[in-house]
Amino acid sequence: TELTPSDFVIFGGTGDLAFRKLLPALFHRMSDGQLPASSRVVAVSRAGLDDAGYRDKVGSALEEFVPEADPADLAHFLTRLSHVTLDIDEQAGWTALARAIEDGANLTRVFYLAVGPALFGTICQRLADNYLVTSESRVVLEKPIGTDIASARAINDAVDAVFDESRVFRIDHYLGKESVQNLLVTRFANAVFEPLWNAQHIDHVQITAAETLGVGQRAGYYDHSGAMRDMVQNHLLQLLCLVAMEPPSAVAGEAVRNEKLKVLQALKPLTGDDVARAAVFGQYAAGTVGGKPVPAYVEELEAGASRTETFVAIRAEVSNWRWAGVPFYLRTGKRLAARASEIVIQFRPIPHPMFPGEDTVTEPNRLVLRLQPDDSVQLHLMAKEPGPGGYRTRPVSLDLNFAQAFGAPSPEAYERLLMDVVRGNPTLFMRRDEIEAAWQWAQPIIEHHAASDLPPAPYEAGTTGPAEATALIERDGRSWHESNV
Ligand code: BG6
Repeated sequence: TELTPSDFVIFGGTGDLAFRKLLPALFHRMSDGQLPASSRVVAVSRAGLDDAGYRDKVGSALEEFVPEADPADLAHFLTRLSHVTLDIDEQAGWTALARAIEDGANLTRVFYLAVGPALFGTICQRLADNYLVTSESRVVLEKPIGTDIASARAINDAVDAVFDESRVFRIDHYLGKESVQNLLVTRFANAVFEPLWNAQHIDHVQITAAETLGVGQRAGYYDHSGAMRDMVQNHLLQLLCLVAMEPPSAVAGEAVRNEKLKVLQALKPLTGDDVARAAVFGQYAAGTVGGKPVPAYVEELEAGASRTETFVAIRAEVSNWRWAGVPFYLRTGKRLAARASEIVIQFRPIPHPMFPGEDTVTEPNRLVLRLQPDDSVQLHLMAKEPGPGGYRTRPVSLDLNFAQAFGAPSPEAYERLLMDVVRGNPTLFMRRDEIEAAWQWAQPIIEHHAASDLPPAPYEAGTTGPAEATALIERDGRSWHESNV
């Protein structure tokens, strides 16, 4: 169905996220004809730019990030942009914003808050004070929602005072990734996996989000955050939820979010000494990534010293009937050997070996759902090596690469998510209670690390992380799945 045009009001409209992700995504959706061509983008920032100045900046950003853009589409898109200079504490900017969108009161209005969470509450309040919140308005919040339960609650309260929960879209861009949505389809549009999807048949699950990037320009934010708040509390737990949840009645409305919440609530709390046993915090030292020497994390900071973790590995458990006793190993880090994000479901070993022999290998089946760098699903099976000499069994992999199978690359996560905001579809966004339940589990782990005297375990940049993380899983007689192995 044809959508009504939208006004996107982006707070933080000159920021990195806007240039690298939001504007390219809106450009793509508009040039594909999905977003009505009369939709507008009003960028809000303190930059003191006029419309022409802003369009110039966006024009160069799109040339860089969307090099294949059609010049006519690009020219049209730029005409849809304007810029409002606004200082939150001064009325002049709010009046200017009101003027910029006053003729669009009947349009879908999306307030996108691509700014620090400390500003979320005030911005929402000012929007209301200035009568900018219409019945067709939505607000989009970027992570992190707070730094602990108390701050998350305070932010959610302040936002909910202005916007009904059904109008609040908390982004976790991992949920917009094609491969993550494919996880739902793999599980629930096929009959072969779900009967095996439980503790009886699954030995353990691994969820890895490995990056090669360091923190670079974002050190100011990152040093107060660390990998637990930046990646685990949101992205990794969301992936865990989609793997572990019960089948929802539909992939629509609140059904998925209800099931995810139950998983978060069933996470076995890690407190006190459990944390030291089940979690490894690491920090990168100098090393080599992709053939280039890179500095240590602390060398990227002004302070020159820090206990902030750039790597975490955790052995988590979901205490319910389906998953009793099945470890979920979570792992994420910066400056690792390769960019690779994947979910690995390892099935239990066969109950009885039938192909013994010195030249035989038997490995348990693994289902590998790969999110990055490419979208793919692999099923590792045992097969017979061809030849007349007997049963030589070997692991082989059934490999489905989505870009190849469908002859098209996957769209960016933000494209899907922004269109869902316009359509008012909340399924792929985090509900308030999910955020708070995720903090409930993550906060004691963060606090335990903060209170301990131990520095994070160092690891050389360009490796797979600290030796302690290897020890964490090997202690259980298991090993990390390294891609390309
Ligand atoms: C963001 C984190 O949410 O996700 C970043 O703040 C991280 O630190 C990024 O680099 C990873 O996203 P992606 O899509 O590149 O895996």
